[in-house]
Amino acid sequence: MKEIIAIANQKGGVGKTTTAINLAASLSVMEKKVLLIDLDPQANATTGLGFNRNQYEYNIYHVLIGRKKLSQIILKCSIPSLHLAPSNIGLVGVEKEFYDSDAKGRELILKTKINEIKDRYDYVIIDTPPALGSITINALAAATSVIIPIQCEFYALEGLAQLLNTVKLIKKTINPKLSIKGFLPTMYSRQNNLSKQVFFDLKQHFKDKLFYDKDRSSYIVIPRNVKLAESPSFGQPIILYDVKSSGSIAYQALAENILAEAS
Ligand SMILES: Nc1ncnc2c1ncn2[C@@H]1O[C@H](COP(=O)(O)OP(=O)(O)O)[C@@H](O)[C@H]1O
Ligand SMILES: [Mg+2]
Repeated sequence: MKEIIAIANQKGGVGKTTTAINLAASLSVMEKKVLLIDLDPQANATTGLGFNRNQYEYNIYHVLIGRKKLSQIILKCSIPSLHLAPSNIGLVGVEKEFYDSDAKGRELILKTKINEIKDRYDYVIIDTPPALGSITINALAAATSVIIPIQCEFYALEGLAQLLNTVKLIKKTINPKLSIKGFLPTMYSRQNNLSKQVFFDLKQHFKDKLFYDKDRSSYIVIPRNVKLAESPSFGQPIILYDVKSSGSIAYQALAENILAEAS
């Protein structure tokens, strides 16, 4: 296992799930064995990869409460080296169960579960819900790094301080290995001045935490691309739905960056 990457931002609609699906799919097309863990009760990563509730009985909730092993819930996707640990709305119950139990180490449950299967994968990608509750804490406690998607819209950087503090706290307490892999500008439109402004602000504050493309000539920015928005309704990652689209090219560049860093 090379890395466990959490995709996190407590804001909704910023491109977490789109990034989780398409980074996982791009890495797996590059011949890496990848497990995508859907840790959001909304289960958008699960449906976005073409699965519906009738196709699986158990999900990540049953793993977190100890009823199933992670290996027992894993689904095979259309790309052979991509596996999915699905979610379901029932996962909301886990927050309450974590709260009710005062079991020590409940922040580390996911980490323990991933440990059991880590020899089987090169990368584990974790999609998280839009909140900084115990589900996201479990993801950050298990991860070696976190990617923070930043939507290139108004208020983009609002709430970021709170997220960065949470990451810092987790690093200091339960997961010293955790690092910020980078900020990923998403839904960028060239015609939109606001997009440019957000990207400019990101460069000002976090220049060394942006992703570079292969030849280090430009930063990786995920464009606003209708194909990226359409592909989940076909149950496909963008690399299968429209490999040549601008969104697909950008997520492939991100995957290449991550592979290059690891080698
Ligand atoms: N780069 C993009 N271009 C166009 N639409 C996008 C892009 N990224 C995400 N979307 C769309 O925006 C919405 C929110 O994205 P999503 O990845 O689900 O965010 P989150 O998981 O952070 O809530 C979805 O409908 C998704 O299809
Ligand atoms: Mg999501």
